[in-house]
Amino acid sequence: MRFPDGEKYVRILDDVKGENVALIQSMYRTPDEFLLEYLLLADTASDLGAKRIAGFMPYFAYARQDERFNPGEALSFKTVAKLIESVGTSEVYSIDMHEHRVVDLDDVFKIPAANLTAMPLLTRYVRDQVGFEKPVVIGPDEEARQWAKFVAESLGVELYCFQKKRRGPESVEITKPEELNVRGRPALIIDDIISTGGTIIETVKVLKKEGATKVGVACVHPILAGNALDRIKQEGPEFIVGTDTVPSPISEVSVAPVIADKIRKLIA
Ligand code: R5P
Repeated sequence: MRFPDGEKYVRILDDVKGENVALIQSMYRTPDEFLLEYLLLADTASDLGAKRIAGFMPYFAYARQDERFNPGEALSFKTVAKLIESVGTSEVYSIDMHEHRVVDLDDVFKIPAANLTAMPLLTRYVRDQVGFEKPVVIGPDEEARQWAKFVAESLGVELYCFQKKRRGPESVEITKPEELNVRGRPALIIDDIISTGGTIIETVKVLKKEGATKVGVACVHPILAGNALDRIKQEGPEFIVGTDTVPSPISEVSVAPVIADKIRKLIA
């Protein structure tokens, strides 16, 4: 809800005095708005006497601006972390946050911070709902190895990671490892984020050209900027699935069990 002048209106209806509070707020598409909502809610809960506030940001915006790449740029990741801490957040959790140049979340947050994962849920979806049989698992770049490796090991299949060169915001060049022979086999691409779709489009193209029988795509955060989904579909993947950290037409997998499991452990 908003005031007539466009300002956010936030109100907590339940009594949170002395309570453990879990605040779940993903920061997709309009991250500034969701961040402000989180800050208003957490500060209100804190002011009303909540005992502990666990902040869950399934998709954590601003994590990419973790360095000053050009003089004068904001260190946005650190600023957002400071804001979240300043409103009484006791601990913070994200889901498969891409830690680009940050080795340890403790370097960014002063409060306990951890990354949860949706990979078991995505793996189960691909295996049980889609019934994708014995694929070769593909990480489209080295940074995707951590996620693709988990899926490959869970399915008991081979893993290969491609080389990616980014030529521009929407343009990438993908090279497959020489030793990979995908001819006559199904392939499953695993990545954390699909943004412009450039990475997935080029990876699907290479796999199809190399003779993969069918190509499936699974990601955690389907940002799908602009017409990314249509452009990916034009390459003819068998299926494309993501989680609901970012609501989208492909957000088939709910991360609610991951969050519920963490909350259960926090209050146990
Ligand atoms: C990059 O390192 C990430 O893991 C994704 O591969 C990337 O964000 C995808 O972006 P796009 O869809 O724009 O190629």
